[in-house]
Amino acid sequence: MTETTVRDEGLLRQSGRALLVSIHGAQRALKLYPVENAAVQRALDELVGTAASVCKLEGVVEIRLAGDFIFINQTRLRLGLDNFAAFSGFVALMKGCGVGLLRIEDGVTRREFQAFLSITGDLPADFDPDERLELLQQRMQQADIVRLSVGRAGEVGAETAAEADEGLERAKRTYAHGVAVARDVVHGVRMGRMPSTRRLKRAIQTIVDQVMENELSITGLTTLREFDEYTFTHSVNVCIFAVALGKRLGLDRLQLYDLGLAALLHDIGKARLDQAILNKNSALDEQEWRTMQSHPWLGTLTLFKMREGEDLPYRAILAAHEHHMKVDLSGYPRPVRPRSLGLFTRLIAVADGYDAATTRRVYQSVPWEADAVLRDMWFNPGRGYDPTLVKALINLLGIYPVGTCVILDTFEVAIVAGPSPDPEQLDRPLVRVVVDESGSRMPPPGELIDLSIPSADGTFRRTIVKVTSAERYGLVVGDYFI
Ligand SMILES: [Fe+2]
Ligand SMILES: [Fe+2]
Repeated sequence: MTETTVRDEGLLRQSGRALLVSIHGAQRALKLYPVENAAVQRALDELVGTAASVCKLEGVVEIRLAGDFIFINQTRLRLGLDNFAAFSGFVALMKGCGVGLLRIEDGVTRREFQAFLSITGDLPADFDPDERLELLQQRMQQADIVRLSVGRAGEVGAETAAEADEGLERAKRTYAHGVAVARDVVHGVRMGRMPSTRRLKRAIQTIVDQVMENELSITGLTTLREFDEYTFTHSVNVCIFAVALGKRLGLDRLQLYDLGLAALLHDIGKARLDQAILNKNSALDEQEWRTMQSHPWLGTLTLFKMREGEDLPYRAILAAHEHHMKVDLSGYPRPVRPRSLGLFTRLIAVADGYDAATTRRVYQSVPWEADAVLRDMWFNPGRGYDPTLVKALINLLGIYPVGTCVILDTFEVAIVAGPSPDPEQLDRPLVRVVVDESGSRMPPPGELIDLSIPSADGTFRRTIVKVTSAERYGLVVGDYFI
């Protein structure tokens, strides 16, 4: 593939996503407001605009469904967390009308889109998909819609979908679902409701099952932090890291369910804090810091209350209470009597510290690189982590976790795709070269290279020189890893 086609494909993917988001936006606006409403008009304008720009790239645009995958012409769109709602909304819309293929031609007007979306929202529910598709086509003709057409899914999409990486898609869905459930729990507590643990437990079971099945694809997802839902993604990330660590320590599935639940709820006390303090983008003053430090207590109280009607493991309450205490008990809250922290607490503290330090947040515009965080957790006893568990985390992630962008001594830029297969060579992970020595971008997914394998003469052809940020090279990590 040449450089131009790679760029075009990236561009198509990007505008394809934008197109789905605006179809979804217009569809929702039409459902909520009358046509003449300003929000509807704005949404339709935006839709016509994005459609025009995709058509300019490709001439004719065909959006095709194959299973749960969406293709724009020959390119499969990747599911992201920021566009998850738009994707599932679009799939539901198409499936609801028996449509597998939507064709958009250059010059499509806002009248056509408006008529099309109104018709799709108004098909009789008791028809089967084939009948609905037929009726939709009829009505589109009556409404004089010529630059939009619909049909069943084509063969090409189905074949390509079979090759697509279903494991990763499934991992993404699990992750997105975990984030949604975490969001509901936090909102519930904010509104003074006690959330039910049943849904929560189901989400955690799926996460645990996937960690057991394919640790790499789900832990890899925690590196995709392109979204600003820190509160929710943080608890899901901590849950994934804690469960993956627990699995390495030999905990059984039932113990992992409890651990995952405890991890997901570790910061639940924050739901009862003032949002202004949580989202403050400058240093906290003393009073605010004290308030912030009350979240383990508030969490403990919340979980005790939750436990009244539900079956919640005691260790989850303990972890919410202890996760900032540090192993030498110099953290907060200060315990009255000497104690030793439970295993769940120590595991969650390590997962929590790692995720918090590597994530970009309102008050932390440049996140630490993962390798520096791991080094600090390992060498700085003041952080108060259990050293054995930090070692286990390094073994789990490698010194360079999946998704880390690195510069090699060959002047190539690569993205870490997996830990080194050789535990003695943690500094030589699997990588995918994404920028070659002349500075040209390589097409995703890029060549997979095991840095731990020496050349015939016993020397290494490539060695990591330093960690860099993917943004500096305009790379979207998610397009390359796995
Ligand atoms: Fe916390
Ligand atoms: Fe936390």
